[in-house]
Amino acid sequence: MATSKSEGRATARAGANFALVKYWGKADARLNVPAVGSISITLDALFTETEVELAPKLAADELTLDGKRRVEDVAKISACVDLLRRRAGVDTRVRVSSRNNFPTGAGLASSASGFAALVRAAESALGLALSARERSIVARQGSGSAARSVFGGFVEMHAGTAADGGDSFAEPLLEAKEWPLEVVIAVTAKGEKETGSRSGMTRSASSSPYYGAWVSGQPPDLEAARAAIRAHDFGSLADVAEHNCLKMHAAALAARPPLVYWNGATVDCLHAVRRMRAAGVPVFFTIDAGPQLKAVCAPGARAEVERTLRAVPGVLDILTSALGAGAELR
Ligand code: DP6
Repeated sequence: MATSKSEGRATARAGANFALVKYWGKADARLNVPAVGSISITLDALFTETEVELAPKLAADELTLDGKRRVEDVAKISACVDLLRRRAGVDTRVRVSSRNNFPTGAGLASSASGFAALVRAAESALGLALSARERSIVARQGSGSAARSVFGGFVEMHAGTAADGGDSFAEPLLEAKEWPLEVVIAVTAKGEKETGSRSGMTRSASSSPYYGAWVSGQPPDLEAARAAIRAHDFGSLADVAEHNCLKMHAAALAARPPLVYWNGATVDCLHAVRRMRAAGVPVFFTIDAGPQLKAVCAPGARAEVERTLRAVPGVLDILTSALGAGAELR
């Protein structure tokens, strides 16, 4: 791959992240401003690497994802790169080549790492120098969770209140090395998920009777998670993260038509994690808009969690990761 130094071309890497206090619902769909703040962890072993090259001869942007041309996804990435082209005062088209080192679109946060890497690389290819906050604001407009993958470790996304979305960005809470939690992901289904986060959250907001309670319950969960992270209090973080995850899914389950993201193995893994914690193993679960279960463990507990989840019938694969850095040029 080209280095970031060649003119008009740059490569960046960003880690996937997943939320311990979830983003689910939008305040402004056009600017992609979330209805609620969120708190996440950025991973080091699951990442997207993206090369952006200025292509003055092209009439439209081009996207290759995992070696395949993706015409259907070009509009989304063009809209995000447009924000940067406007700042640079150019309208040069770009050739984007992106690779995930983990399954795309299966509820493993590929849009988060994807847009964070895209923004970092496109910014550099266009000769811009954004602050990390500006980068987070641009990445948010590609995908809300991508605003968080700009940063490493523990990250908080602010929903903000400004009409232009200018105060809707993420910020680091704690560096990965300050509290080196580990993650074990139980993959319980392969392939792209049925209902993506974007349409899932729209449907929840418009039809779930629990959506209002979900939104109004978010500030105390954010406060509890922030305090737990500051104090490195694993038990309190486990408590609020599982509660918040189940509330998000309760709102989704009650949508019409319902959004059932779990399969049987997801639920069996959830019980396995709860049993382990009851037996004293420092681990908790979270689940996003897909059937994979993410187990977060205190340092030292990973091997046992991995062994236990691997033995759950229906678990097809296990991925593990430490916490990692934010989006960086390669
Ligand atoms: C369940 O960031 O994928 O993973 O902003 O519409 O692109 P868009 O949504 P996206 O939603 C993520 C939802 C979630 C929870 C989370 O990551 O906070």
